[in-house]
Order: sequence, then structure tokens, then C-alpha cells
Amino acid sequence: MQHAVIMAGGSGTRLWPLSRSARPKQLLDVVADGDAGAHSLLAEAFTRLQAVLPAERIWVCTAARYAAAVRAALPELRPDRLVLEPVARDTANAVGLAAALVADVDPDAELAVVSADHVIRPVERFAAALRTAYDVLAVRPTALVTLGVTPTSPATGFGYVQKGAPTEVAGAAEAASFREKPDRATAEAYLASGEYLWNSGMFVWRAATVLTALAEHLPESAAGLDRIVAAPAGPARDAVLAEVFPTLPKISVDYAVLEPAAAEPGRVVVVDLDVDWLDVGSWPALAHTLTTDPAGNATRGLTVLLDSSGNVVLSDDPEHLVALVGVRDSVVVHTADVTMVCPVTDAERVKQLLAAVEERS
Ligand code: GDD
Ligand code: MG
Repeated sequence: MQHAVIMAGGSGTRLWPLSRSARPKQLLDVVADGDAGAHSLLAEAFTRLQAVLPAERIWVCTAARYAAAVRAALPELRPDRLVLEPVARDTANAVGLAAALVADVDPDAELAVVSADHVIRPVERFAAALRTAYDVLAVRPTALVTLGVTPTSPATGFGYVQKGAPTEVAGAAEAASFREKPDRATAEAYLASGEYLWNSGMFVWRAATVLTALAEHLPESAAGLDRIVAAPAGPARDAVLAEVFPTLPKISVDYAVLEPAAAEPGRVVVVDLDVDWLDVGSWPALAHTLTTDPAGNATRGLTVLLDSSGNVVLSDDPEHLVALVGVRDSVVVHTADVTMVCPVTDAERVKQLLAAVEERS
């Protein structure tokens, strides 16, 4: 059967101070519904999957501390489809844990892995690409399929997939190579070559296949996951999970599995995801989900801007006005307890800033 799991355990540190460890970006109501308020990226990811799958085959994998917030955001999520990690050990282990638990109830499961922090339009084209990716498994059952997006800049925060020979399935090509987060010069060369797609961070594979790949490339994780699912579901399994999961090597699925697997010819397949796609990972990206004025200022909340342009300005406190005059290309974010200001060009460094803040406290 076809299943999908939404990876929703990231902490969204580059969107600090709006995104907090207690309430990360995927749970914030950032996507505006016109006059009808706003909803979260997680809720949007769930609805998007429902174009292809029934709710009972949609799983969510997240940190245990987000459990209540996830349940509140997703009333249609079946209680036994919520996979909770005791601590975050990055996506290799999150994907592995979800795959192991899905395979436990459906050993032949075909599992899509999707991110919780993307804006994707239109949904129909996403659904078509997802169906194509499942179709690849009908002819290549052990393929690791990634959904790839046409790159528009030499971004260094993404994975890059090199398109190789076409497969039997229209819209799907063998991946000739995979490189996670290359440096700027490499990303520029990839973009100029026209041979690369951005890895969207969404994958389709049989649950059994990704567990085999983990056993090959990250044996320590695979062994730990085996111990976890060997315990009977319920308190016994929860106890092993709490003991073993925190010890697993912290690494993303892109570095741990996709990069090495793509070195094997035909093992990784890339499906064209022909959509407007936005990874809402940083302030300039989030700006695309906000109201924009003719001077290119993206704003939310109580703000007044005079002779200012290219800014991202947000007041998360309904009583607090943020006012700017003569300011260009800056991010100004005010929340109840923190005000953060940086040039748009330093937006990627907010993660560093947060680390410095945490060190100080
Ligand atoms: N459950 C769980 N546990 N989810 C996690 C964890 C974790 O420990 N860490 C991250 N996630 C979730 C995030 O919430 C997000 O939905 C998704 O996994 C991807 O994690 P990011 O941290 O946002 O990854 P990235 O943006 O640096 O890189 C990935 O996505 C890019 C596209 O957005 C990679 O797959 C890149 O290759 C890709 O280009
Ligand atoms: Mg991301």
C-alpha cells in the first residue's frame, strides 16, 4: 500500500525569534487565508497529501514535545499515525524510525517522505509528481526516488541532483549524482550546467528499501532502529526508543543515504516536480508568504514604513507598532520578548545569532 510521512521535527532556527524551540516554524500559522486568518505549513502539507492518499495512510514524524501542537493542528491525523522522537537526531533517523514503524504494520509499504516547511502550488501538479514517483516503484521496486525542482539560483542550502539517463517512466530520470549543500562556486557551476535539479527533500521508496540503504550506509542507526521495533508496540517499545534513539548518529538522510547511494548507477531516480516551490527556511523566503507593498516591503502585523524598501518587517505583538524610516533591505522582527534586526543579506546567519544568544543565557 502507498503511505506517506511528513517530517515535522525541525526546529526552524533561521526564523528566530518567531520560530522557537517550543513552537517551530512548521506549527506557526504563517500561510495567509485571505481574510480568513492563517494556517500552518504542517496543515498545508497534510492537505496536500490528501490529494493522493487517504488520511489513514498519512503519518507525521516529529519530536515528542510537539505532539500536542501537531494533534491540534491536524484533527484528521489518526492517533496511531503519529511517530514521536524522544530527541531530534536529524532526518536519517526520523525517516528510519518512520519507515520501521510503517513496515511493522505494512511490510510492503511504499512510503513517500515529505517536508513540513514547503509552500507548493498548484497542488494538482504536486499530486501528479507524487503519483509518478510511486509509478517508478512499480518498474524499479528498489529505487530511491527523489522529487527534484528546477533551480532558480545557486542556493547553498539545498541538495543538488544531476539528471542522467531517462527511465521507463515519463518524467523520471536516473540520478547521475547527488550533492548535499554544495559550496557557492560548486552551486554556480551546477546551475550553469543545466544538468541539475534541486532536491526538494521529498522522496518515495519502499519502507524496506530505505531501511536496507540505512543498514548499508549508517549501520549504527539501522541496528538501533531494529532494536526499537523488535520491542512490542506500547510501553516496552517506548522504553527502548527512549534509551536507544538519543544514541543514534545525528545526520540527515541526504548526507547519509542519498549522496552515497547515488554513486551506484540507477539506484537513485529523480522525478520532475514542476511546481512553484518555496522552502520557507529563512526570513527572505518567509517574506513570500506575507503581504508585499510596491516598494518590496513584506510586512505582517502592526507596522508603518516611510521611504523604506526591500524590508521584511513583522510585529507578532498586536499592541506593538514597528515603525521604519529610510531603512533598506533589512529584516526587523518583533515578538513579545525579542526584537531581531539584520540586513537581508545576513538572514542565513540568524542561526548563528541564536546560538550566540543561547550561549549568553
Ligand atoms: N521528525 C523530524 N526529526 N523531522 C526533522 C528533523 C528531525 O530530527 N530534522 C528536520 N526535520 C524536518 C524539518 O521539519 C523539515 O520538514 C524536513 O525535515 C527537512 O529538514 P530541514 O532541516 O528543513 O532540511 P534542509 O532544508 O536543511 O535540507 C533538506 O531540504 C532541502 C529542501 O528544502 C534536504 O533534503 C535538502 O537536500 C533539500 O534541498
Ligand atoms: Mg528546509
